[in-house]
Order: sequence, then C-alpha cells, then structure tokens
Amino acid sequence: LDNGLARTPPMGWNDWNSFGCDVGESLIRQTADTMVSSGMAAAGYKYVNIDDCWSTRSRNADGDLVADPAKFPSGIKALADYVHSKGLKLGIYSSAGLTTCAGYPASLGNEQRDAALWASWGIDYLKYDNCGDHQGKNGQQRYTAMRDALAATGRPIVYSLCNWGEESVWTWGMSTGNLWRTTGDIQADWGSVTSILDQQVGLEAYSGPGGWNDPDMLEVGVGSMTATESRAHFSLWALLNAPLIAGNDIRSMSAETRTILTNTEVIAVNQDWGGKQGHKISDNGGLEVWRKPMSDDSVAVVLLNRGNSTATVSTTAAAIGLGSASSYSVRDLWAHTTGSSPGTISASVPAHGAQMYVVTGGGITEPTTSALKSLSSARC
Ligand code: GLA
Repeated sequence: LDNGLARTPPMGWNDWNSFGCDVGESLIRQTADTMVSSGMAAAGYKYVNIDDCWSTRSRNADGDLVADPAKFPSGIKALADYVHSKGLKLGIYSSAGLTTCAGYPASLGNEQRDAALWASWGIDYLKYDNCGDHQGKNGQQRYTAMRDALAATGRPIVYSLCNWGEESVWTWGMSTGNLWRTTGDIQADWGSVTSILDQQVGLEAYSGPGGWNDPDMLEVGVGSMTATESRAHFSLWALLNAPLIAGNDIRSMSAETRTILTNTEVIAVNQDWGGKQGHKISDNGGLEVWRKPMSDDSVAVVLLNRGNSTATVSTTAAAIGLGSASSYSVRDLWAHTTGSSPGTISASVPAHGAQMYVVTGGGITEPTTSALKSLSSARC
C-alpha cells in the first residue's frame, strides 16, 4: 500500500501466540520495557501489538468501541503514550465482520468511526481479521473500506490484512494493505511451520516495499519449538521478507531465544530489498534450498533439513544465481564467520534445522532492484 509505511517488513511483537485472550495493560507495558532492555528494539523491533479480546462485549451508547476497563484500567490512549515514550509503536486489532474471532464487537459498517477512535488514541498499526458476519460483502470490499477509513484519519497506521489467504489476497494485497496473511493460523510446532512454508511457494511475485506476504507471526521460543527449529523458522521467515512479529513472552525468554530474535545479520537479510523475496529453488526429499537476491549483488541462502536425522544439504553458486568467479565469500549468519568456496555451498544440517549464508562473488545473474531502477530511468 502506498501510504509511506512498511517500506521494509514490519518488526514487532503480538500477544496472541502466547497469551490468547489474556491480554492487558501490564503485559503490554512490561513487553514494551523488555523490548528495549533485551536489545530487541535496537535490533529493529518497533510495534507492540494488541490482538483480540481487548474491548468490552458491546459498543457504548455512542456506538464506540470501549477498552475493557478490567484489562486496560488506564485506557488505550495512556498506554499508547507509554509505548511511544519508549520509542516504540502501538498496534490494535479488529475484524472486517460484525464480530472478532473471539466474539467481541468488530468494525464492519463502523470503519470510519473506529479508525477515527484509534487515531485519537495514537494507534500506529491495525491487524484486521476476517471473522464475524460479512453482510454479504467480499473480502476485497471489506478490506478496502478500512483502508480508506484509516487514510481518512491522516494518521500513519500500518494496515495488516488478516484474511488467511482468501480470495488470493496477494493479487490485491499490494493496493489494499501493508501486509496480508497468506494462510490459516500458525501453531507452535514444526509441522505447522513447514506446512505454512509450503504454502508460500509462488507468492514471491507479489511482495515488495509497502506490501508483504505474511506467513503469520513467529513461534520462535513458543510451545514445543526447539532452539534448532526456532532458528530454522526465523531464518526462513527472514528470507521470505515476512513481517517479523515475535509471538513469545519476551519478558521471560531464554538467552537462546533472545539470541535468535536479535540476530542482526539474519534481520538484515529480511530488511533488504533486492527485487524479489526469498523463494525455493530445490527440494530433494525434505532437503531444500531457498535463496534471496540481495541489493548488493550477493545472494542469501537457507539450507533446510526437514527430516528427522542430520543430513548434508548442498547447492552451488550458479544454482543460487551468482555469476562465475574463481572464489566466493560465504558468510555464516548463525556462526558469524566468513569462509570461502570455489562454488559449492554445503553443510551438515541437523534434523529440523537450517543453515543460513550470504554468498558473494560473480555478481547476480538477474536484475536487482538497483539494476531495474536504472533501467526504468534510462527508459524515461
Ligand atoms: C484469528 C487470527 C489470529 C488471531 C485470532 C484472534 O484466528 O488469524 O491471528 O488474531 O483470530 O481471535
């Protein structure tokens, strides 16, 4: 969406994956505090997002949404002021139907009223779900109505379409929102992460600055996810230019989880736009290679082992789209070491694990953003 926002994939946190409906003002304040003290803010995380169940069960006499006073005794405006005082931004949630997924009042038919209220509170991000009665309207109509209502407020508000990939949202996502969910809900287990990954194949054509495919929020350090699985999940979501919205309880995260979420070399891949999001280039019985062209003529690579025992995963500089060179530099984004290779990129990868590299040398054999830009300015 051309609203000046999300020129790189948004980064932040959302309460849903770890807390469900158990949201409230102290959780949000403590999370904002931890976002800063843990180093996450310095690594780029900015949005602290409230999900479902924040309001009372019905609108007030004026027809406005009201924050549940038991959960948010100081109100959302005061909370936004607090989050802003930490240098962070606050997100809220509603649905393009008559009710949210948990049955709270939602915004279909009240788009302008609700958008104006959120803007008056200082809200910076809206996650807009797809639950409740749709009143016979299709998704594109319902999501466009809120896009226009947000624009009418004059406040910059990142607009997240949560319609689970329905109506091929990627084909109209870029003109409607800053990110769009491509699938149903993620769960905190390896099977869910890989099944969502499979559903991203082919969507790389649709994303870019201002509008991103959203394979759902991170499960790094949540549920049954091991550190190895969490590293693979984070590597892949970064390569896919996915929004990096942490879903764990960051107040009590382990040092290992914190190290994964704040790996600035992996985050740098996510935040770079080289003309195309990461995509799969080979798939050999659960051993996969994913690559992303980078704007500096290097290529980021994830070697993924989906299987249940350690295996060697290999590719070549030519296969990932680099031109020929006598030697390539291979930066390991998890070990933080640099090696060199005559052309093979290969690693022993643990079960449910991934290795991630940036490979440089030979130049990229497809047009990158900078090449495309100079091409179009040459044409004009
Ligand atoms: C849907 C969304 C989830 C979450 C819940 C809240 O399932 O896809 O991400 O927001 O609703 O009820």
